[in-house]
Amino acid sequence: AGIKVFAPATIANLAVGYDIIGLALESPGDEVIARKSDQYKGVHITQIFNDGGKLPMDPLKNTASVAGQAVLDACNASDMGIEIEIHKKMPIGSGLGSSAASAVSGAFAVNDIMGKPFSKEELLPYAVKGEQSADKAYHADNVAPCLLGGIIFVKNDETLLHRRLPTPKGLYITLVHPDVEILTKNARDVIKTNITLDQHINQSFNLAGFIYSLFTSDFTLMRQCLQDHIIEPQRAFMIPKFREVKEAAMNQNALGCSISGAGPSIFALSENSLDAENIAFAMREVFSNSKIKATTLISKVN
Ligand code: HSE
Repeated sequence: AGIKVFAPATIANLAVGYDIIGLALESPGDEVIARKSDQYKGVHITQIFNDGGKLPMDPLKNTASVAGQAVLDACNASDMGIEIEIHKKMPIGSGLGSSAASAVSGAFAVNDIMGKPFSKEELLPYAVKGEQSADKAYHADNVAPCLLGGIIFVKNDETLLHRRLPTPKGLYITLVHPDVEILTKNARDVIKTNITLDQHINQSFNLAGFIYSLFTSDFTLMRQCLQDHIIEPQRAFMIPKFREVKEAAMNQNALGCSISGAGPSIFALSENSLDAENIAFAMREVFSNSKIKATTLISKVN
């Protein structure tokens, strides 16, 4: 026996909120099974399924055990043994928040085994600690929606100030995952640290408009505002066929289309399931004569 935890894939940035907005998908999501163990001290990873051997088993390096151990330490139970088995259900290094999902499931599972001393909200800093061990930068735009669900904005500092934004009825997400790997660190290194006043004004307007559109289900406004003037133009070159995919999605009535997190996955939002299906088809078409394999998925917000 043990406890089983589900941790959904997430889309960070959502075009207008670099490092501060993310959304949780209904599926896919990792599954983690955790149980007490007399054989270990601290949190150990016993098995990882379906990761192609890419993820570290070393408890100091795996985001699940780092986050889980942080919870255990906070319970003053550092020496207690807990073993974790990870079933990866999403591609790694794909821009779907895989390391965040592991971190969240590790923190959540240990808290559960300890009798839930912390609320979900209180687990956020521990999960962020796990995530941080993967890419060093401090941001919770994957971890927060993975843990709390929905569309979340969250500050990228220790305050982790956050709120959930409303999800308009009918909102669908289509994702295409071109089968190349992008290291988040590399995708962050290409971003210039300065922006122009014009970029700031345009991006602020779009963020304001996007948030208004979530509260009011104003899909016309969302389509006008879901555009990234800062990050996407700098990262697009890293993603195979980005421009063609975006054009194909926008031609199928997408509300917006941009890079999912650090990429290479590309997401599009739409206002109903038919549009979402048409977008998925059009995205696959772009890769139909390409050497790069691409898979699509459709989800609602979790
Ligand atoms: N906001 C982050 C980025 C998400 O775009 O680099 C990826 O971890």
